[in-house]
Amino acid sequence: MKKYFPVYVRVPLLIALFYGLVEYFVDSGDQPAIVKFPELLILIALFVFVLIAIEITASASKSIMNQLMSPEERAERERLENLPLSEQVWFKKMMAKLTKSKSIEDEKSIELDHDYDGIKELDNDLPPWWVYLFYVTIIFGVIYLGKYHLFGGDNQLVELEKDIAKAELEIEEYKKTAPDLLTVENVVYLTEAADLAAGKAIYDQNCVACHAVDGGGGIGPNLTDNHWILGGDIKDIFTTISEGGRDGKGMVPWKAQIKPSDIQKVASYVKSLVGTTPANPKAAEGDLHVEDTSVTETTEEAPATEQPTEEIAS
Ligand code: HEC
Repeated sequence: MKKYFPVYVRVPLLIALFYGLVEYFVDSGDQPAIVKFPELLILIALFVFVLIAIEITASASKSIMNQLMSPEERAERERLENLPLSEQVWFKKMMAKLTKSKSIEDEKSIELDHDYDGIKELDNDLPPWWVYLFYVTIIFGVIYLGKYHLFGGDNQLVELEKDIAKAELEIEEYKKTAPDLLTVENVVYLTEAADLAAGKAIYDQNCVACHAVDGGGGIGPNLTDNHWILGGDIKDIFTTISEGGRDGKGMVPWKAQIKPSDIQKVASYVKSLVGTTPANPKAAEGDLHVEDTSVTETTEEAPATEQPTEEIAS
């Protein structure tokens, strides 16, 4: 046996098997059992300890035996250990137990008296390996009956419903951070208190290091004055936060970490800071932003383009 499973195969195999059983039988939801219940590590360590103790004891007793044996006995033992698998004593014993077959020489003892024109019948035992398998199916049947028919285990339909419910929860979870349909085209300045509070939370978490808690500025520019390097319109602020500032200035694109609808909230919060008085304001940088809506822009431009046509006409 040892020849086919040397210690460096046997020990890791048993440890893996034990660990597998622990993971299989301990109900720990999505996490591995040893993450959820670190106490299990003690159990596994104990198992490894016992396993190694057994190995050490076995190999020690073997070497003691070796020393007590005469050279002939030792040689005999070595010979037995190195026989091919089918000749090994334990293997022969195991096969005899599993098959209970009679060798041809012994057939006389199980012969029945039937004789049909010289064809005789033997009274063989059922092969035990087959009978054991049959017992296993009986035990399985009893457990199955108990679990699903007496104690109300989930049938396939219930399992499916549970899986669907779980998947739906996961979808909700995914939606929280997934990119949404908001783009710079439909960004608007949110003024609802709840949105601004959500924006402030994002700001406090990501932006204070460079823009200060109150927006007064630091590494990044002051966000409370109405001067903007990259534009003070809500769409400009949205783009700055989502795509980052000018190269090498230190304002990274945040779109990888913050989803568009949240960028809209933090952009609105930043815009709402304009006009507040921070503790240590940084000097204003960039151009003064004049709030004009795109509607007024087009109405201003419209007469300007129309006028020349009128002049030509008149
Ligand atoms: C690592 C430092 C740093 C962090 C963190 C940071 N910024 Fe900036 N931010 C800057 C710098 C530097 C600039 C100037 C960029 C430039 O000059 O192009 C800037 C520019 C800006 C601007 C444009 C200002 C203007 O005058 O046009 C806005 C708006 C802004 N940041 C918002 C934010 C928000 C919101 C966050 C958090 C999600 C954030 N920043 C996080 C460094 C940072």
